[in-house]
Amino acid sequence: MESSALNVQQEEANNAVDVGKDLTTTVAKHYNELKETGLEQRAQSRIFYLRNFNNWIKSVLIGEFIQELKKSQGPNAPLTVLDLASGKGGDLLKWKKGRISHLVCADIAQTSVEQCENRFKEMGERGRRERFSEPMYTAEFIAADCTKTRLKDLYKDPDIKFDLCSCQFSFHYSFESLQQAEMMLQNACECLKPGGYFIGTTPNSHELVKRLRASEDMSFGNEVYNVTFKCPDKDNLALFGCEYNFHLEGVVDCPEFLVYFPLLEKMAEKYNLKLLYKKPFHKYFEENSQQGDSRSLLGKMQALEPYPPHENVDLVSKNTEAYKATETKLQALRSKEPEEYKKRRMKVGTLSQEEWEATTVYLVFAFQKLGEETKAESSQAGSPSTEQRRGMKRSLETKEDEDQEEVSPKKVAKETTDT
Ligand SMILES: C[S@@+](CC[C@H](N)C(=O)[O-])C[C@H]1O[C@@H](n2cnc3c(N)ncnc32)[C@H](O)[C@@H]1O
Repeated sequence: MESSALNVQQEEANNAVDVGKDLTTTVAKHYNELKETGLEQRAQSRIFYLRNFNNWIKSVLIGEFIQELKKSQGPNAPLTVLDLASGKGGDLLKWKKGRISHLVCADIAQTSVEQCENRFKEMGERGRRERFSEPMYTAEFIAADCTKTRLKDLYKDPDIKFDLCSCQFSFHYSFESLQQAEMMLQNACECLKPGGYFIGTTPNSHELVKRLRASEDMSFGNEVYNVTFKCPDKDNLALFGCEYNFHLEGVVDCPEFLVYFPLLEKMAEKYNLKLLYKKPFHKYFEENSQQGDSRSLLGKMQALEPYPPHENVDLVSKNTEAYKATETKLQALRSKEPEEYKKRRMKVGTLSQEEWEATTVYLVFAFQKLGEETKAESSQAGSPSTEQRRGMKRSLETKEDEDQEEVSPKKVAKETTDT
């Protein structure tokens, strides 16, 4: 028997009886034990700009789809949102800025859910004291394993319909098994209104596998991030349960699972979801960093490191090579400046090469729920068949997505903008 066929069958068997080791408790423990860090401490972090950059990506993505909803439903439409795997509530303020009406937050980590709820209450109190604050939405908070529990049974209103489901930096935890991925997807989509969106950020399987295959062992990374695959063979990756450990300086250090995107796209058909786009972070950044509000948000959120640094401030990377491309870009910009401006100290915004390499592991995605009348052909929608999964496994093993362009660390030179 062909070895890939054998692997698919083995995997089906594992999924059927759910014999795989369950890592959800390890993940929950990791997030429950993460210390809340204050602003000052965060500013000292080696990945201060990387975290802000990732946060900027989320802000732009959320803003984009809130705008879409307002365009189609009117500027004052009461929007209802599900923040799936909401963590400590890193996006609560984004929902306030988006002037939504109601939010449901769900996460496996009980402590994070409590912190999220407290933050929400504090935000409400602060808003009441401020004169020109956006109106505060109502919210409910659920501590549950979203890969194993049907959230619909836990909502205050079981008939609630969402305009938007946002799942940021979390969907990959569900790809431990087929059943878990299906439950997570069901939670993301079953209560979405037709026309509603399912958006998120997740590691890009294409990029992970490419870096894995380029490495000498099962691990790759740099001083800020490290990925170590647990499987024994780079050329034999499972569609579910393909575990790797993701370490990101002081923020993440726990098991994650490869999400082969064509498989997720196929699974999403069951819920009548159409993929609008998936874009690697660097591409999403390129498309949005020069646009009005998103551009000014880059500065407000301190999403890029000023280069050269301000007086008496050190660059976050001690590796001078990390800014070589930025320096070249800066020189090129300076040479184009009119004589009278040459004396001022021009600065550009950038990320150190190490942070850039870490952030470009991710992609953004956006699905839209189609109306009943445009339902995907029922014969094809549903869980991917064994045959389809076998085909996908072969393509995961043999080729990389053609629609993706090269992400070179050198590209950081282009990622500069005036600060
Ligand atoms: C990197 S954090 C992202 C949190 C938040 N979405 C954000 O962007 O700030 C990943 C989150 O996924 C949650 N998570 C992991 N596995 C989960 C599961 N099975 N069910 C629900 N939440 C889960 C973790 O507890 C954690 O809060």
